[in-house]
Amino acid sequence: MRDFPWWPGAASSYAPEVDHLFIALLIVTALVLALVFGLMLVFAVRYRRGSDADRDHRVKKSWRWEVSWTTATFIAFLGLFYWGADLYRRLYHPPSGATELFVLGKQWMWKVEHPEGQSEIDELHLPVGRPVRLLMTSQDVIHSFFLPAFRVKRDVLPGRYESLWFEPTQTGEFPILCAEFCGLDHSHMRGRVIVMKEEDFAAWLEAQPPAETLARAGAALFRELGCSGCHDGRGTVRAPRLDGLYGRPVPLQGGGTVVADERYIRDSILQPKREVAAGYEAAMPSFAGQIGEDEILKLMAYIKSLRARPAS
Ligand code: CUA
Repeated sequence: MRDFPWWPGAASSYAPEVDHLFIALLIVTALVLALVFGLMLVFAVRYRRGSDADRDHRVKKSWRWEVSWTTATFIAFLGLFYWGADLYRRLYHPPSGATELFVLGKQWMWKVEHPEGQSEIDELHLPVGRPVRLLMTSQDVIHSFFLPAFRVKRDVLPGRYESLWFEPTQTGEFPILCAEFCGLDHSHMRGRVIVMKEEDFAAWLEAQPPAETLARAGAALFRELGCSGCHDGRGTVRAPRLDGLYGRPVPLQGGGTVVADERYIRDSILQPKREVAAGYEAAMPSFAGQIGEDEILKLMAYIKSLRARPAS
């Protein structure tokens, strides 16, 4: 498809499907609009005041018409619903094995952290043909991470994680926009995604200043902040071990179970008294206000990197 400014070329694996659905909805809507306004116009002209149209023989209500148009619109609606729901489900389920990156929005910039530890501002370098999952949060107000060429947009909220995924299908540069009014420089809160060939990307990564991986930086923080004192199982305070925690169901004190996803891990750091693992004291202090989003991301990367211990 040609590249209009308001309709950039599709550059992600699911972008053509989003376009097809959008165009189909547009066509259906236009047809209904034409039908309704067309009939309105016809009747307005035919039965205008003073016209000699036949007003004596009013047509009786026809059940055949009533039932057919209701059924037809119902089926059309179900079809569109199924189409949209199926696409939505795939848009919200990243394929397993997607590379995971962190995006932090703040007034007025996007900070990206690669798992290998490299970080960049208002730029996002990616290899072509590999799915990526972005885990995103905001440090201040609500922003919205918008990648028009990849047909994806997600609000980025302070205090919680949002994620999105896509797989770039072409190399090139594509705009990043903020799609939520977030203050004075909202309109300047833009950046670009640079999609490169696999080997160019590897070279780019290599050329960045050497950095510690996020997980390793998180491990250091884990010791510095004193987390390891309780969570490594050797201290006097009993705290749950975190090996293999990510993605596992955790039984809670007072009943119920939660899956240890990013939301749970984040809340456990900031509001540890809220969801206490069954069988443990609510002894952990809150780290709210003491560590920034950057540090939470590192701890998160570390905790996710902890594999389950082999059963002994
Ligand atoms: Cu950030 Cu608008």
